[in-house]
Amino acid sequence: MTDKPLYSSIHQENIQELVHAFYPKILKDELVAPFFIAKLGDNIESPLWKEHLKLLTEFWKFVALGFDEYEGNPLKPHLEMQGISREAFSNWLKLFHETVDERFDETAGSYLKDKSAEIAENFMRKLNL
Ligand code: HEM
Repeated sequence: MTDKPLYSSIHQENIQELVHAFYPKILKDELVAPFFIAKLGDNIESPLWKEHLKLLTEFWKFVALGFDEYEGNPLKPHLEMQGISREAFSNWLKLFHETVDERFDETAGSYLKDKSAEIAENFMRKLNL
């Protein structure tokens, strides 16, 4: 990672790379992984996970670049998660920000980090956490 220059702009290839680097980390987080395993299993190579990675790539391309393939409802699956907590969101964000920092410079990275924090705050508010 350290020998690669950091991205100074956001584009569809590095968004895909970000998403694909983030979820393997999520699957190693004791607090957050169980929510994903319950829905998608623990094999990141499975068709269900591939679908999730594709959907989340589309989501971030929509958020950061205005692409229009994403047609989901971002909040909905989280509303049905029993036991989700502020601590779980905090771990999710920490790992997302860490993954961003490994790839993006300060300007491009801060956009993605601010957006993710904003969306997480929104989710937590709507989940009454
Ligand atoms: C502790 C925090 C979180 C957990 C445990 C979690 C878990 C999950 C799981 C398990 C799914 C798949 C649901 C399914 O396919 O049935 C999902 C979907 C999704 N998550 Fe999260 N998530 C968290 C935080 C976030 C945050 C902060 C964001 C955005 C910044 C986000 C964005 C999304 C999106 C866009 C989807 C797809 C929704 C759809 O269109 O169906 N998640 N999440």
